[in-house]
Amino acid sequence: MVLFHGDCRDLLPLLHADAIIADPPYQQTSLRWDRWPTGWLTAAAQCTNSLWCFLPLRQFAMPPFRGREFAAAGWRLSQDLEPDLDTEHDHWTWAKHNGSGFATDRFRRIHETATHWYRGPWSSIYHDVPSVAGQPRPPAATIAHRPQPPHTGRIGSAGYTYGPTRLARSVIYARSEHRTGIHPTQKPLAVLDLLIRYASPPGGTVVDPFAGSGSTGIAARAAGRHAVLIESDERSCDRAAHWLTSR
Ligand SMILES: C[S@@+](CC[C@H](N)C(=O)[O-])C[C@H]1O[C@@H](n2cnc3c(N)ncnc32)[C@H](O)[C@@H]1O
Repeated sequence: MVLFHGDCRDLLPLLHADAIIADPPYQQTSLRWDRWPTGWLTAAAQCTNSLWCFLPLRQFAMPPFRGREFAAAGWRLSQDLEPDLDTEHDHWTWAKHNGSGFATDRFRRIHETATHWYRGPWSSIYHDVPSVAGQPRPPAATIAHRPQPPHTGRIGSAGYTYGPTRLARSVIYARSEHRTGIHPTQKPLAVLDLLIRYASPPGGTVVDPFAGSGSTGIAARAAGRHAVLIESDERSCDRAAHWLTSR
């Protein structure tokens, strides 16, 4: 495990990893560290071809259209997950520091969005989809007579998997780190564990360019992966170092 104190844009081109797990500043608050580091996606492309990134959908679909920066750096979207953070207060620090910036006339947003990006051929990207306990196959007669939805036409059997296991679903339920975390936007270890195992082989290496609390390091170690962490804020770096060495 390595923890660097520095700017990820300087360090990423010097590193090599199976995957990056990134939780960049969204630039939504007045917090000192909450500034989008322009150019980090290009630096990330010099480090790996596989990238998980926590970023709300709004950041892609509305100005500043972050999706353009991903495309410009050669990143292609493979999928999105919704870690559903079971809490009233997941964004408590944002609300506290920039309460007026958060809508009170829309559905209360309780989820995060994590997107996976890749470069080069998909077949060259390590990815291991987790399986969970499956469901029994319904009787053949039920399948044969099941009406097909008119708007989709005939759905092939590839869409459904019956048997002892099935693919894990894209919505992940995890408790937030509110009150227990050491960083205001700390991500749950249970979510990080899934992203790390999906994108890196056992014994492989993940890089977290925005380490915050060091949570990716804790999750990577528990999953049997190496981790290289980068954090530009000195106080956060100190706290992360303490957490990483105390467990
Ligand atoms: C959203 S937080 C990450 C929280 C982390 N995922 C966790 O679970 O604790 C983003 C972090 O990136 C750091 N940061 C901001 N710009 C950076 C840069 N250019 N290089 C490295 N770290 C940076 C901030 O100080 C902040 O701690």
